[in-house]
Amino acid sequence: MKRLTTETGAGQWGSSLSLAGAFFGLEVEVFMVKISYQQKPYRRAFMESFGANCIASPSELTVAGRAVLAAHPDSTGSLGIAISEAVERAVQRDDTKYALGSVLNHVLLHQTVIGQEAIRQFDLADDYPDIIIGCTGGGSNFGGIAFPFIGEQLRGGPKVAVIAVEPANCPTLTCGRYAYDFGDTSHLTPLLKMHTRGSTFVPPGFHAGGLRYHGMAPLVSQVVASGLATARAFHQLECFEAGVQFARAEGILPAPEANHAVRAAIDEALRCKESGESRAILFNLSGHGNFDMQAYTDYFAGKLYDQPYAEEELGMALAGLPSVG
Ligand SMILES: Cc1ncc(COP(=O)(O)O)c(C=O)c1O
Repeated sequence: MKRLTTETGAGQWGSSLSLAGAFFGLEVEVFMVKISYQQKPYRRAFMESFGANCIASPSELTVAGRAVLAAHPDSTGSLGIAISEAVERAVQRDDTKYALGSVLNHVLLHQTVIGQEAIRQFDLADDYPDIIIGCTGGGSNFGGIAFPFIGEQLRGGPKVAVIAVEPANCPTLTCGRYAYDFGDTSHLTPLLKMHTRGSTFVPPGFHAGGLRYHGMAPLVSQVVASGLATARAFHQLECFEAGVQFARAEGILPAPEANHAVRAAIDEALRCKESGESRAILFNLSGHGNFDMQAYTDYFAGKLYDQPYAEEELGMALAGLPSVG
């Protein structure tokens, strides 16, 4: 293998793969969702510093990209489209492999190191969380922190309240359909049973690019469907407000995606304060916002707004769900 190809929304996964490429002497090609490509130029520069070739998706390089551009020349892109482009490139060349950054079981499995480490840290503090919170794009950081605790609970350990937090303008767990769907727009992936908004759904261009995925990890969908976790959705402004509050208290500026978890954690803390309950709240700060300063600049300038998704487009995307069985 000489080349790796992938998709990226926030640029975090694309950065990891670019770094791996530099270490192992591989050419890396990253299809970055166009709106993120425009909103996160420093992420792009970071990937390019490791030698990666970053392409705004949809692009003219693939059949999948050209089809989207022919129908929607101004398309802002989506993770589903970027996955189609990356998979297509890998299929075209024998020396190229495709690596997915979220959603699938093996990705969630790797991420469980987060929850396993958290369990050890709570041991050291002689404590245990009552509430566990993570934001959800494809589901990997949430599954990573929550699954080890859910596993303990299923084996008779302490009960935990687990909360998945998603963006209100691309909500899958709170109001998507739980059905078989494709993981990408051109239908190159196998079918996955997941909460989905339909594989052709293009969410509005809000700033948490890593949360703009039409579906959800099948394992995360399953834990929510079976009541082991609950989900809630927030708009971006209330999340940025929480992120800034967190930064001023802790000295760490969260990524716009992570702000969703911060919002829920603050809300839970306020709820406990009001009811007088003493609860340990664990949340995953899934990434820093140091490459997202344009988003914060726009937020401080009052240029960000809460954009609803297009109901009509959603209806069309859901109507296109494959019929199974
Ligand atoms: C900082 C950050 N948090 C969360 C996510 C969401 O991905 P996942 O749900 O797979 O953890 C991303 C994805 O790019 C991200 O960059």
